[in-house]
This record gives sequence, C-alpha cells and structure tokens, in this order.
Amino acid sequence: MLDKGEKTPSTRVRSVWCFLMLSLMMTTLVFIFNNSSIEMSWPLNICRTTSVPRTPQPYNNTTTPIVSVSTPQYFVAYPHQYPFILDQPNRCWQESPFLVIMIPVAPNNREARDIIRDTWGKETTVLGKVVSHYFLLGQSREGGELLDEQVLQESQKHQDILQSNFVDSYNNLTIKTMVMFEWLSSHCPNTSYAMKVDSDIFLNVHNLVNMLLEAPQHLYMTGLVARSAPVLRDQNSKWFMPVSVFPESIYPPYALGLGYVFSLDLPKKILEASLHVKAVYIEDVYVGLCMRHLGIALTDPPSGSLFRATVPYMESHCYWTSVITTLLESSNRLSDIWELYQTQRRSDC
Ligand SMILES: *[C@@H]1O[C@H](CO)[C@@H](O)[C@H](O)[C@H]1NC(C)=O
Ligand SMILES: *[C@@H]1O[C@H](CO)[C@@H](O)[C@H](O)[C@H]1NC(C)=O
Ligand SMILES: *[C@@H]1O[C@H](CO)[C@@H](O)[C@H](O)[C@H]1NC(C)=O
Ligand SMILES: *[C@@H]1O[C@H](CO)[C@@H](O)[C@H](O)[C@H]1NC(C)=O
Repeated sequence: MLDKGEKTPSTRVRSVWCFLMLSLMMTTLVFIFNNSSIEMSWPLNICRTTSVPRTPQPYNNTTTPIVSVSTPQYFVAYPHQYPFILDQPNRCWQESPFLVIMIPVAPNNREARDIIRDTWGKETTVLGKVVSHYFLLGQSREGGELLDEQVLQESQKHQDILQSNFVDSYNNLTIKTMVMFEWLSSHCPNTSYAMKVDSDIFLNVHNLVNMLLEAPQHLYMTGLVARSAPVLRDQNSKWFMPVSVFPESIYPPYALGLGYVFSLDLPKKILEASLHVKAVYIEDVYVGLCMRHLGIALTDPPSGSLFRATVPYMESHCYWTSVITTLLESSNRLSDIWELYQTQRRSDC
C-alpha cells in the first residue's frame, strides 16, 4: 500500500512553513499588543495538517456504522485451495536458484512481462549466484478463451508463468500473495531468498544479490518498511479499512508491497500464521499482520536509500547503480531506464 500522492515530506515542509508563519505572526502580534490592547484569538488550527485523523463521515461513533458498509469485500477468501492452471512444477528445485523473483501481474499485461524479460529479468547469474523470475497470474474475469490461449502460448515459450484459478483483481492481491508463498514453500527447497516485486519497478538485481550475500539467512524480511502507518477510514480512499474489519488505528510494521525480500524459511511460517489471522484485502498489510502474529520483526535495509518509492526530484549521475528498487510511473519507462542503468554501469559509477 503506497499512495503516490500523499507524501510525508510535504507534511514536513508544511510544518516548517507553519512554524515560520507562526513566528512571523507572533512577532507582529507582540508589536500590536505593545501599541494597543486589542484582544485577539490565536489562530492555532491553521497548522493542522491533513494527516490528523478525521472522523469518517458515515460513522456516528467509531464502532458502529450508520450507513451499513458491506464488509465481505474487505475480507478475502483465504485460506482456500487455489490450484494452478499453469505451473512450472520442477524448474525451481532443478535450478536451485539462490534468489527467486516473483512478479504479480494481470493476465492481459503481456507488455509489462516482455519489458521485464528484456531488462532486469535477463539477469540470471549475478555475482556467481543463480537468479530466476516467475510471473504470478490469476484468472482474468473478462479475457475469455482468446486470452487464456495467448497466456498458454506465452508460458510454453518462456516457462516463467504461474497462473492460479482465483479471479485476478486488485481486491484479490492478498490471495495472489498467499498463493505465491504456497508455491515457494513447496517448489523451491534449495533457494535462499525470494523477492516479491511489482511490474512497474526498476530492480537492480546486482545490488540486491550483493545485499543478500551479507544478509541474515533466517526469519528475514526487508524492503521499505512502513512503521506506524495510520489505518485509513475515509471511504473514498483506495485503502479504506472499516473499523469492523480492523479496529486498531495504526498498522503493525509491514514491508511495502512494491518490493520486499525474504528468506525462504518464512513462506511456510506465514502460511501457518494465516490460519489464525483473518485475511484482509491489503496484501502487504496482511503479510505484516502475519509477521506480528509470528513475533518476527522486519529488518531495515542496510541503507535507507536502497529501496526507493519514487525517483528523486534531482536524480544523481549514478542514481540507477546505487539503488535496489524504484517505483516508475509505468513499466513502459523501464526500457529507457535500463539503458541509462547500463550506461551508468559502464561509466565510473
Ligand atoms: C449519534 O448518535 C446519537 C445517539 O445514538 C444521536 O443522538 C446523534 O444525533 C448522532 N449523531 C449524528 C451526527 O448522527
Ligand atoms: C456507538 O454506538 C453504539 C450503538 O449506537 C453504542 O452501543 C456504543 O456504546 C457507541 N460507542 C461509543 C464509543 O459511543
Ligand atoms: C476473488 O477471488 C475469488 C475466487 O476466485 C472470487 O470468488 C472473488 O469474486 C474475487 N474477488 C474479487 C473482488 O475479485
Ligand atoms: C543446493 O544448492 C547447493 C549450492 O547451490 C548445492 O551444493 C546442493 O547440492 C544443493 N542441494 C540440493 C538438494 O539440490
């Protein structure tokens, strides 16, 4: 869960701005008070930021909705058996990769898959370690037989598609994530790490493997770790969460779904936890809830600038060789940025 619009830095800028304005007004008021004795009310609420929790409109109090919000869509049908329609049953144990990269993508998004195969998906041996990738698909609701046939052919050609039979939709991403953990725990007995990464991400596989060579080997999960993220109660939010589904006001720590890495002993444990933690539709939050249930802390990356949510305003000369992930506006940008990355690699970055 990551909002490309609401960023904490802007809140910080606003706080600084408010502090300066308040100081200025203070000075002015002191001046006025010294010259006359007018009573003035102090305009404190001008500095309330939008991050102050708002009372959600449809609720009279925090426990009972007046307007009945149907909650089933915020829960997800998991645990449940979702068989694979397209699989690579032997590839992972035969290849025994050090790192497996799992990419959730919609069935009709062939373009994103091809761009990845042509860019960071090509990195199959890095620092002497075998790396492989798989695309994770559900079933398209409207694609029909034509799309099924195209995906089948694509799978036969590239041998990198895992497709399960749940409906592929945004609200079912938790199912996709859990099916990913199931597949990893049963197909990759000799793999050290896996990464879940979205298709619109620049991924520097070299830096990733380099970090993992020094990383803990057990009970390890890292990425962009969200701590103290507020639960959004605004029904218009993409991540609206009804109190009846999750009553706490702060989420436990979780790694943002755009790209997180974990040791291969975790999938089995997360699946065990999922039997006790009711599945919610925000997939990265749900993994965080399972981690809390297990009592396993998330690890921050060795440097705060490795996992980036956005391209910085001023990107440095060696930017693409210095990061592990960066979220792009769309996967179409990946080809250009991959070129740029190759250029930076050849220069003295
Ligand atoms: C909230 O509920 C109380 C009692 O149930 C009622 O008196 C009050 O008018 C309600 N407030 C709103 C804003 O609906
Ligand atoms: C909320 O409303 C319900 C029913 O109207 C009531 O039982 C409950 O005590 C209220 N909670 C608070 C915090 O006011
Ligand atoms: C999620 O997948 C299940 C199983 O295929 C399906 O019944 C349900 O309608 C899907 N939910 C959404 C919101 O797509
Ligand atoms: C697992 O991988 C290691 C090193 O990659 C190799 O030495 C070992 O034989 C493999 N084990 C199995 C069961 O494939």
